[in-house]
Amino acid sequence: MTTQKKRVAVLISGRGSNMLALLEAAGDPNYPAEIVGVISDNPDAKGLAIASAHGISTAAFPRRDYPSKEAHDAAIDAELERLEADIVCLAGYMRLLTPGFARKWAGKMVNIHPSLLPLFKGLDTHNRAIESGMRVHGCSVHFVTPELDDGPVIAQAVVPILPTDNADSLAARVLTVEHKLYPLAVRLLALGKARMENDKAVLTGVAAEGALMSPGSAPDDVDIESLARMTP
Ligand code: GRF
Repeated sequence: MTTQKKRVAVLISGRGSNMLALLEAAGDPNYPAEIVGVISDNPDAKGLAIASAHGISTAAFPRRDYPSKEAHDAAIDAELERLEADIVCLAGYMRLLTPGFARKWAGKMVNIHPSLLPLFKGLDTHNRAIESGMRVHGCSVHFVTPELDDGPVIAQAVVPILPTDNADSLAARVLTVEHKLYPLAVRLLALGKARMENDKAVLTGVAAEGALMSPGSAPDDVDIESLARMTP
């Protein structure tokens, strides 16, 4: 029996490196999801050009073109419907969502955030982690709820904070791990192994070795050893 791939739309505001990581993961014929469209609030987002170059449908919805946040989100929602999206991935999408939009896509919309949630919601996470004296930092993929960076966590990866780190060096190392974590989490969602139930993320049938990334996954999906080698 062949299972239909889940249709994923990605919302971005800028660089789009996580979007590209998802696109590259989806290039594997065995990946259970395909990227069907990339949407931005910023017509100049670099990620839009990258998506177009890969033959992906792109659309830009500048906030200034709409009279309200609700109208803006309604236009994006209409595009998601047009794309027949099953899953919405926020990847550096820099706008707060209206509660109605968040509720409509509840359980189907996920975000990647550069911290070990619930620590360091919001911006400037790398600097705040260093300044707080943390020895580890990381990233989280979570279901999106109306509150910012607040939804149930599906997957997390840990990155050591080195004595020599500044916000930029730490951000660069976390980003490398984000590019592995996001495709992993979307794979779980697409396979129905990650679900949102009663405001909790429920995982079934996933490896739990969780050394530096949790949940773990099959060795060919995530190279745990190369993550470990990031610690000098
Ligand atoms: C990433 O660090 C992501 O975690 C955060 O915004 C950044 C987006 O980077 N939400 P990119 O556009 O995916 O390169």
